[in-house]
Amino acid sequence: MYYYGIYYSNDKIIKQIMSWIQNKKPIIALAPMADMTDSPFCRICREVAGKNFVIFREMISAEAIIRGNEKTLKMCEFEEIERPIVIQIFGSDPNKMVQAAKIIVEKYHPDGIDINMGCPVPKITKKNLAGASLMQDHERAVNIVKALKNANLGIPISVKTRLGWGSDEEILEFAPKLERAGADLISIHGRTKIQGYSGKANWEKIRKVKKLLKIPLIANGDINSKEDIEKCLKITQAEGIMIGRGALGNPWIFLNNKELQTKHNINEIKKVVLNHAQLHLEHYGEQFGLKTFRKHLLLYFKGLSGIKDLKKELVKVNTKEDLKNVLQKIR
Ligand SMILES: Cc1cc2nc3c(=O)[nH]c(=O)nc-3n(C[C@H](O)[C@H](O)[C@H](O)COP(=O)(O)O)c2cc1C
Repeated sequence: MYYYGIYYSNDKIIKQIMSWIQNKKPIIALAPMADMTDSPFCRICREVAGKNFVIFREMISAEAIIRGNEKTLKMCEFEEIERPIVIQIFGSDPNKMVQAAKIIVEKYHPDGIDINMGCPVPKITKKNLAGASLMQDHERAVNIVKALKNANLGIPISVKTRLGWGSDEEILEFAPKLERAGADLISIHGRTKIQGYSGKANWEKIRKVKKLLKIPLIANGDINSKEDIEKCLKITQAEGIMIGRGALGNPWIFLNNKELQTKHNINEIKKVVLNHAQLHLEHYGEQFGLKTFRKHLLLYFKGLSGIKDLKKELVKVNTKEDLKNVLQKIR
């Protein structure tokens, strides 16, 4: 079944996406975020907000997949509840990208493969000539898309990129090339690589790109509320939006409009935090404790008044008992 030229592999997902179209609903997506959008966090987003959005998982190294790196392979694992789910890979060699994508598709059966063409981190751009550096090498970027399309993986191949490396005009040339190469969907973070995360995401520029494309476009950058979602869709005229930092510590952002208006209370936050911590422990192993969960923990309580002193305790929790003890003090 095809939607906007995208092939969907799973029957239930087709029905779901078709119902979004019939109801003229935009595509809402969770942005890929390294070290954050792991399986426990994605499952918590589903638990809180249901199935109305697409999950883009954290980026995965194509090279590490080919090497059979255990930790990287584990990053591809997901539960059925996480569907529709897209696995994002990074790399620069078209053949290796295909090899890695084939392993992922055969082993895990995701609903899509996304190519990272926007990551600005030097380890990715300089060492691997991947991520954002592909915006400086259009030929290589196009060859990666073509190679993945030619591999006939049976699922959509999408690209996530930025407005450009140094200039926000670059995307006007780059995006149509990706479309011609066969990309099924493009997500654009409305900043350049040089900007990093500074300034504001340029939604007007994304609108200009939209006018050049036939394939669906997902707009991304600085969407932190229901109002932002509506405003971004209106300005960009994109088929969908993608939320990154605005979802961290706030899976409620994916609830539909009416529910979003209902403010979740502190007891609801505590319940979700405990569930998330439990999933985290199960996924990474009780023996490692909650050390790697602390980054999520603080975000759940961001902006809450009277939490300053308790933050010092939150950043020290190691066990679920520690966590319960601190949560008891939060009112
Ligand atoms: C902690 C963190 C990790 C990220 N990791 C990835 C990644 O793995 N792949 C990717 O394409 N973008 C990554 N991004 C970029 C986000 O997907 C998104 O484009 C960016 O944060 C802007 O959207 P936002 O304003 O909604 O956060 C990351 C961003 C953050 C904050």
